[in-house]
Amino acid sequence: MFNYELSIMNCELSNHYHSYVINVANQGYWACCRKLIILQTVFIDLATFMNKTSNIIKGDSRGYGKVTLVGFGPGDPDLITVKGLKALENADAIFYDDLTNEEFLRRFEAEKVYVGKRSGKHSAEQDELNQRLYERAAKGDNVVRLKGGDPMLFAHGREEIDFLKSRSVEVEVVPGVSSGFALASLLQIPLTHRGLARSVAFVLGHGQKIQTPNADTLLYYMGGAYVSSIAKALLESGRSADTPAALVTNVSLPSQNAVYTTVGDLRYAVFRDTPVLIIVGEVVGFEAEPHAGKTLLFVDEKVDLSEVDKIRFSSPSSVETFRHIYSDDVPKRLLLLASDQETFDAISKI
Ligand SMILES: C[S@@+](CC[C@H](N)C(=O)[O-])C[C@H]1O[C@@H](n2cnc3c(N)ncnc32)[C@H](O)[C@@H]1O
Repeated sequence: MFNYELSIMNCELSNHYHSYVINVANQGYWACCRKLIILQTVFIDLATFMNKTSNIIKGDSRGYGKVTLVGFGPGDPDLITVKGLKALENADAIFYDDLTNEEFLRRFEAEKVYVGKRSGKHSAEQDELNQRLYERAAKGDNVVRLKGGDPMLFAHGREEIDFLKSRSVEVEVVPGVSSGFALASLLQIPLTHRGLARSVAFVLGHGQKIQTPNADTLLYYMGGAYVSSIAKALLESGRSADTPAALVTNVSLPSQNAVYTTVGDLRYAVFRDTPVLIIVGEVVGFEAEPHAGKTLLFVDEKVDLSEVDKIRFSSPSSVETFRHIYSDDVPKRLLLLASDQETFDAISKI
């Protein structure tokens, strides 16, 4: 088997070399660039040939490379694991998306393949991405699929594993620091605490029916556009309106920002900045008191909003006045709070 695979690859390689020699012989050196292109093809084939050969020697009879799913962590490159770093150093290709620091990736020799939202792709194209990972591995490349946070939390991790394994591609997973864990450590909010919280749940923050698990601490992922729905669901499930909560954006990045509030206040809240995590539970109270979010009661003149975390509107007319004073000049990170549904409807349109 081994010899057979090697001879097929040898044959592919020598076909290219052969056409190169024929070209040179027939056409002299009339097109130097043409020769270079052919030579380049030969070298690419040579690299593939060497990769495949080395994979066959390592034990994969078809010469397939492997795919490693690596958790990048929440965004600060210093939070990737040592094992993740080694995988990047040994990769032929790195597939990455939006939560990865591109500057950091430049130090690795591997080819970088961007597969995030800017490429116009959405999760619906997961199948296409799986296929591309497979094709690179089948070519003999060692591929790293870099994923924000941990690869096994809200990250399509198992879908990628299933697709690749069903095509007999070896897959390894390197854990990463999930953004929720990073939030807890960086803001010094314990997810559990003796006498206060004995359980924690990671919850999807959007969808038709937002879940409210019966855990002491809740961490909502991907809930930026659903803050008020999350709060309403929590209140309906019996959670007190006074329960401390925080909205935390850009965890671990220089732009990290935390707004402390309560579940009751979030009921009529609009928040548009992403990525955001919403943490709910008594443990948030450890940090909420000393650094409580600053609320600006609406005034009839322009003030510096960079010092403000929350704005509370008392009526639709106060929203209108605000819009008149600031027009489009409203920082995205602000938490806009309404006193009732009508006011909420008005601020949703800002
Ligand atoms: C598709 S999920 C990926 C979660 C990731 N696997 C993890 O373990 O953190 C994306 C969501 O994670 C959260 N997230 C990821 N990175 C974040 C960060 N640096 N700051 C705040 N939230 C973050 C946000 O809720 C975002 O909408």
